[in-house]
Amino acid sequence: MWLARLLTQAGAEVDVVMTRAAREFVGAITFEAVTGRAVHSEIFGPGHALDHIRLAREAKGIVVAPATADFIARAAHGLADDLLTACLLAADAKVLLVPAMNDRMWAHAQTRRNIAQTRLLGYEVLEPAEGPLAVGEGSGPGRMPEPEEIMSRVAHLLAVSSVLSGKKVVVTAGATREPIDPVRFISNHSSGKMGIAIARAAWRRGADVTLIAGHVDVPLPSEISTVKADTAQEMAEAVSEALPGCDVLVMAAAPADFRPAKAASGKIKKGRDVPKIDLEQTEDILKSTIAKRKEKSFVVGFALETNDGLRNAREKLESKALDMIVLNDATEPGAGFGVDTNRVTLISRGGREEEFPLMSKVDVAEALLDRIEEELSGR
Ligand code: CTP
Repeated sequence: MWLARLLTQAGAEVDVVMTRAAREFVGAITFEAVTGRAVHSEIFGPGHALDHIRLAREAKGIVVAPATADFIARAAHGLADDLLTACLLAADAKVLLVPAMNDRMWAHAQTRRNIAQTRLLGYEVLEPAEGPLAVGEGSGPGRMPEPEEIMSRVAHLLAVSSVLSGKKVVVTAGATREPIDPVRFISNHSSGKMGIAIARAAWRRGADVTLIAGHVDVPLPSEISTVKADTAQEMAEAVSEALPGCDVLVMAAAPADFRPAKAASGKIKKGRDVPKIDLEQTEDILKSTIAKRKEKSFVVGFALETNDGLRNAREKLESKALDMIVLNDATEPGAGFGVDTNRVTLISRGGREEEFPLMSKVDVAEALLDRIEEELSGR
């Protein structure tokens, strides 16, 4: 129901097809109210004989949510004994199955085989979430993922109009930790929220995204291929490895600028003297990519400033040879580290500067990608 609502709100024309099992749970009228369109369930009967062909032909994507063990078995074997399975056979649209069932049914060898078979047919399968299942059951995998996650997967599946679709996008996020000794480190307050929001938004637009994550305070997106990097050195290596073929690099992480010149091999004990830690500079990751970037690739940096923001950001745009820099103020309430919102100014190489109001990081990510797409399509 929420998924139908989200898709409709996003501008999709949603035709709901209800199986017999679905009608046991929800009334058709509810879906009609949400989508503003007729609900379909009959395969035979006067006036419905060609419904499956019409629906299948008109659909750009077919989402089966929830997909029961029984439905998956029927789809895997190509049965067409109701409107939904008949639509699947008649369609050449992208298909997303969202299984939801008891965890033991999900784990059964027959279900595993059926799932493998549906994947062979080219259907995308969204792995079920873990969490409490029906009353009295355990909490193994089987739960239907949240509608927002399904929505994001649908967007990824159908993203063809985006300039970013099929492009290789590398995003870094979070803080690095530079060891002082085996139990202590130097780090910063970056939560990774901004970078993860950007990686997700690019993925929704159909990009082939690699997320390089330092330490983050939020869950990593399961749908995105992620490389963990603890230290600035590791992050530099991960970026360098991901760089070949990279069309867009967004360096949203906050790698440490300094690290202890030598990390102690054992825990530094409390003595009479306070230890002195010699620091050395880490590699500037963005600068180190300059000579290795793919021709016409688009590189975005961040500038987290406490004063003289515009001047410093413009300087970083030049010195790091960026196409765009995202300026945010570390001292402003609601912006910068940790919070869910940000207030940014986007500065482009061409000199265009755009100041945005305080927005959620998710919206900032969308605005940033809109601007990247604009500039990419002008090339
Ligand atoms: N950055 C980087 N490598 C580093 C440090 C930062 O690539 N070792 C990137 C950040 O991810 C960001 C941009 O450079 O995209 C600017 O980071 P920032 O910390 O604002 O600037 P610095 O170059 O570190 O300069 P300063 O700390 O003096 O402001």
